Parts: sequence; C-alpha cells; structure tokens
Amino acid sequence: MSQVYINDFGAHVGKEVELKGWLYSRRSKGKLHFLMLRDGTGIVQSVVAKGEVSDELFEQAGRIGQESSVIVRGVVRADARAAGGVELGMLDLQVLQDVKDYPIAHQEHGPDFLLGNRHLWLRSKKQAAIMRIRSRIVRAIRDFFDDRGFTLMDAPIFTPSACEGTSTLFEVNYFDEAKAYLTQSGQLYGEAAAMALGKVYVFGPVFRAEKSKTRRHLTEFWMVEPEVAYATLEDVMDLAEGLICAAVSAVLQHHRQDLADLERDVTKLERIKAPFPRITYEEAAVLLEKLGTGFVRGNDLGAPDETALGEHFGMPVMVHRWPHEVKAFYMKRDAADPRLALGVDVIGPEGAGELVGGSQREDNLDELLGRIHAHGLPEEAFAWYLDLRRYGSVPHAGFGLGLERTVAWICGREHVRECIPFPRTLNRIYP
Ligand code: 4AD
Ligand code: MG
Repeated sequence: MSQVYINDFGAHVGKEVELKGWLYSRRSKGKLHFLMLRDGTGIVQSVVAKGEVSDELFEQAGRIGQESSVIVRGVVRADARAAGGVELGMLDLQVLQDVKDYPIAHQEHGPDFLLGNRHLWLRSKKQAAIMRIRSRIVRAIRDFFDDRGFTLMDAPIFTPSACEGTSTLFEVNYFDEAKAYLTQSGQLYGEAAAMALGKVYVFGPVFRAEKSKTRRHLTEFWMVEPEVAYATLEDVMDLAEGLICAAVSAVLQHHRQDLADLERDVTKLERIKAPFPRITYEEAAVLLEKLGTGFVRGNDLGAPDETALGEHFGMPVMVHRWPHEVKAFYMKRDAADPRLALGVDVIGPEGAGELVGGSQREDNLDELLGRIHAHGLPEEAFAWYLDLRRYGSVPHAGFGLGLERTVAWICGREHVRECIPFPRTLNRIYP
C-alpha cells in the first residue's frame, strides 16, 4: 500500500490508505479515541473504536503523546461534519516514536516562548497554514513575471555599497582588504540586468540593520524587485497593482481551508480588485490632516498614517510623487515639479503598512552623480552603476514588494515574524 497525503483523501473515499505523519492532538470518549493526525498537507480526524481494533492498538492509540510519529492504515470515510469532509477509520497503527512531554501544548503560550521554539511551532495548524500560503504567494509572483516575459536575475548578497541609506547596513569583513555589506535591495543590480534583458525581476533575501522593534520589521526578509527598461512610474504602478491582485487571487483560489484555519475574513480579500486608488503625496497629506493622525507634512508616513490610509480606502492605496528629501538617491525628479521624486509606496489595508516601494529611476548621469554626492555616498563604489547612465541610458522604473508584509496582510496576521520560517529581528537570531 502506498502513502496518500491528507489533502488527497477526498479522492480516496471508501478506500484503504496509508497515512505517514504525526499525532496532532487526541480526544477520548468511552470506547472511542479521536486522533487528529497531521502529515504536512492537512489534519484529519481518525476514529479508533474499541472492539473494531485489537485491544493493544486501542490502548496504544489512547496513550501515545502529542507529536508521536505514526504510520496509520485506515479507510477514508466521507463525513460532512469533519474538516475537509473526510475522516479516517483506523485499522492499524505503527508508532515510530512515542513522544513524551512535547513542549508546545494546545494552549496559550507567550510569543517569546513560541519564537524560541520556532522549529517546533511551525508544526501547529496556523503556522503551517501561513507557510503554505507564503509558498503559494511566491509561486504566484514567479508565475506573474514569468508569464509576462520577465527574466529572473539573481542579485548578489555581498555588496560593496548601500542602496537604501547607510543607516541600516550590515557590515561584514570580506577577507583582508575590503569591507562588504549584506544587500539591502537588489535594485541596482536589477537596473543593470534590465539594460541587458529588458524586463527582469530579482527575488531573494535582503538585510536591514533596522533598530526598529515594530511588528512590520525584520532584519532579514524577502523582496521581489521587478525592473523594466523604457518604463515610467505609471507603468510600474500598473505592474504592482496586477501583481498584488494575482497574489491575492491565487491564495483565494487554492487556500480556502488554510484561510479558514487562520480565521481570516475572506470577504476583505475578495474585495481586492484593480484599479487601486492612486493619490499624490500632497493629496495624502490633505487627507491625513483631515483624519487627524498627527501627520507632519514633508515627512515620511508613520505607522498610524499608513493604518489610517489603509482603513480609509479598504484597498491597497498607491501614494505617488513624494518630496524628494524623504526618498532614496536614485529616484528621478518629476519634470512637472522638481521638488518631487517619481516614487510610489503602496499601502495595504487592515494595518498592513507599506507593501511596495518603487520609482522611476534617475537616468541622467550628471543628475545621478549630484545625488550620490548629496547623499554622501562613495562615488567609487557606484562607478559601475553610473556606467548604466553612460552607455545607452533609457527611462526605466521598478519596485520592491516585501514578501512577509504581503503574507502577513493576506493571512490577516498581526506580526511579520510569523510570516517567514525562521524570523530574524533586532533581538532574535535563534533558532
Ligand atoms: O521601500 P523599500 O526600502 O524599497 C527598496 O528597497 C527599493 N530598492 C525597491 C525597488 O525599487 N526595487 O523596500 C521595499 C519593501 C517595502 O515596501 C516593505 O514591504 C519591505 O520591502 N520592507 C520590509 N519588510 C520587512 N522588514 C523590513 N525591515 C522591511 N523594510 C522594507
Ligand atoms: Mg519604502
């Protein structure tokens, strides 16, 4: 007999199957044990009835501890009351390891305890659901770009220079002569790649020595960064909108049970449709002053401002054309008003915060050189980047979407640390 995964049980009703997994939890009632079994694809209830199995098996089924590893043979039965619509009538039980005192019980534990036991916490129903949805979102992102003729271009992780400001750089010793930094963003390399291949995306881990201890900040997180030659700010706003809609709809299509296990209100996700509202920074400022968030004109948006905007629109909202002082050195100025940078932030609803940051890039050599000096960045480290403006410079634009913030929003989780397998934050690097 061959192994059948729980998420395929629906196609095996009335048949005998073998489940290879772990004991998630147990309830016993008189002559019945109800074992909740998990195998990584789902959880199924297995009923063990005294008299229908050997006394020895019945006794064992009532005794083994949480997370014991088991191989179970049984018959799949349709049961409308069960999650997934099926249950497993147990015929045979093989215990690979009988576990005593599994540290994570099915009761409330504090976040520190759970994060310290992240290697085990991943087995719990909600955490596994988040990881499956994360995997789906990654796949949806890759499909989105691959289907549109983008080429995946991996950017290096060791870099000689900053991309997103010097205050959040992780420095590493790079042999004897040099210092290197862990990349904050693959964008600059994405720009070189776009000049070579037209439409590209970088997708990988990035690092920020963020001193902020907020629910939206990790020190290591994943970002997808498309970069497109001959594109404008408006073009990449369309692209970001399409990408976000594709991610949401892939999750709605394939992960109804996971969303239910997460108690996610799916009506809020079903509402997410293009076009997203697009407002200038100036319009956002007027609105925030009306909403009374304490926003100070000229500043970046704070967390309360982002939350208020998200709540006001109930949709991802695209805030574009920012005062250039609050944005990165590489953003192109707006020809219509040079005080403004052609940047966009996409702010998610339900307190999700900034999901996307993007811009049209400065494509003029002298302007860019001026910015590098004005931001106090070392010109030598950017020599190769400046070459892109010397040899066939063209208008181009791109953005970065933060994976964990997107996962947190779609899963309805408060904190991004639950949305990456092993989170790294200001004060945690274990396990
Ligand atoms: O807005 P950011 O800093 O933009 C860039 O890095 C650009 N170079 C991207 C580009 O144009 N190619 O970061 C992009 C996104 C943010 O909108 C946010 O979703 C996420 O990355 N992000 C973080 N996520 C988790 N923890 C952090 N510390 C994050 N910092 C940014
Ligand atoms: Mg940003």
